[in-house]
Amino acid sequence: MFRTALILSCLAAPAHTQTLGDVHLPLVPRTEAEAARIAAVTALTDDFSKAEAFEEKPAGAATVRAWTNADAFSQLSANMPFAHEMDFKLGNALFRKSWVASPSSTLGSDGLGPLYNARACQDCHLKDGRGHTPEGPEDRAVSMFLRLSVPAASSAEEIEGWIATANEPTYGGQLQDFAAPGHSAEGQMEITYTDVPVELADGTVVTLRDPSYSVSDPGFGPLHPDAMLSPRVAPQMIGLGLLEAISVADILAKVDADDADEDGISGRVAIVPSAAFGVPVLGRFGYKGGTGTVMDQSAAAFSGDMGLSTPLHPDPWGDCTKAQADCIAAPHGQEPENREGLEVDTLSLDLVTFYSRNLGVPERRDVSDPTVLRGKEVFYSLNCTSCHTPKYVTHRLTDQPEQSFQLIWPYTDLLLHDMGEGLADNRPEGRATGTEWKTPPLWGIGLTQQVSGHNQFLHDGRARNLLEAILWHGGEAKGARDGVVSLDTSDRDALIAFLESL
Ligand code: HEC
Ligand code: HEC
Repeated sequence: MFRTALILSCLAAPAHTQTLGDVHLPLVPRTEAEAARIAAVTALTDDFSKAEAFEEKPAGAATVRAWTNADAFSQLSANMPFAHEMDFKLGNALFRKSWVASPSSTLGSDGLGPLYNARACQDCHLKDGRGHTPEGPEDRAVSMFLRLSVPAASSAEEIEGWIATANEPTYGGQLQDFAAPGHSAEGQMEITYTDVPVELADGTVVTLRDPSYSVSDPGFGPLHPDAMLSPRVAPQMIGLGLLEAISVADILAKVDADDADEDGISGRVAIVPSAAFGVPVLGRFGYKGGTGTVMDQSAAAFSGDMGLSTPLHPDPWGDCTKAQADCIAAPHGQEPENREGLEVDTLSLDLVTFYSRNLGVPERRDVSDPTVLRGKEVFYSLNCTSCHTPKYVTHRLTDQPEQSFQLIWPYTDLLLHDMGEGLADNRPEGRATGTEWKTPPLWGIGLTQQVSGHNQFLHDGRARNLLEAILWHGGEAKGARDGVVSLDTSDRDALIAFLESL
């Protein structure tokens, strides 16, 4: 598992390579016979009379038992060899570790900030589940934050279709709402909601809450007049290594950028530079596919969310900008004599990455229940599957037995879709426009209340139940959304029962 050293040696590779491949995976290439078998196994079913083979195991052999308590997302891949379990436990400890600001006598845990959003990964990814919106004016937005940027004339990024933006010149790439002693925080995220009633065909009225975002108490003067804000709630952590192990070719096969099949649904691929691999890779993580691998995302989180340096982002001040000179000059946690002169060394980053890859997906409940099967049929007939792709077979991998060659059921195509003005953050990121979002996986979604203690969905937690989440769908998903509005009560309940069984 300890691959960072090898990875870093690839940094010299040209960063503009446009050929997307599975460079991040230690894979055994597929034979043609295997590819044909996989295509047959992953084809959409048209038999809704009974559950499909292996459907109750969304993560294949990595699937874990569905615990009935809040620990349901905190189990390790069920097929993990015993020899890897210690790495998972060490990674878990680092994920939960609460960092402190420098200078501090606890040398192994200092370096936090100076600007930060949380002291531990686990503070946002609570119970390895999703975060939530603030519960009231006194609740600081710990498990949610605002990404920031401004439009730019050009970009040094050579990826085709890249939309030029730059970090907000003073505040950087995200709003840190906490600061070490002696420093000012960047400000607080403010949300106001407006009620939007939606009437369904059976007369039910659902009231959606439409959010708008601003920054109060800006610590470094007013934000740039063109600043673009994008709210993000921390997503659930399960099954990430399996999403990473899906073949690029299988994802590209679903791209229909110009909607050649005229179903109103296109789907575009996010392509992002990888700090870990030094070449552009497919963007699989983050709400707009902003990062390509679990390691890239984890290193970005150490830097942006907590102000901690790693081999991939060696600056100890994280997201502080030149305009925040005190922040850059502040004491940090990099002792040259230990930890490679980094706050988070190679081994620690590897362990956190290993942990983040290996949180097990719980088995389905009620797969054979007639209402759930009917709901599944509604899900397929309304074309939800054209973005929420049910199944894949992951690559055969040489040193990741947990992710290797599994039939998985994540319900995502990992592509970007225009979701309409209602959901738009109007803040482009990489190749993703201000109206595009990456289809999120739906596995585990029925356990949200149990694990996270709430039923908030979508990138900013605005939806307060699954039906609200669906009613927010617009743009390419407008047809599917309208289909749900038109359903009779029992089919709508069945659709929700299906989602709750995932
Ligand atoms: C301040 C809250 C916060 C903290 C702290 C935080 N995260 Fe996250 N995490 C998020 C948000 C928000 C996203 C979605 C990011 C985006 O859309 O760009 C995310 C996304 C991720 C993802 C990708 C998940 C997916 O399905 O796309 C991984 C992996 C991850 N975080 C790991 C970590 C690790 C490891 C740490 C600690 C080093 C950490 N996070 C700390 C909020 C946080
Ligand atoms: C055009 C692609 C597309 C189609 C079609 C589509 N979805 Fe989605 N779905 C998305 C995207 C993208 C998001 C994330 C939007 C966001 O976070 O703002 C999403 C989010 C969701 C969520 C919330 C997930 C979460 O983790 O918060 C649910 C539930 C959901 N979709 C169900 C459905 C159902 C049911 C249908 C069919 C009626 C459907 N979707 C059709 C793309 C699609």
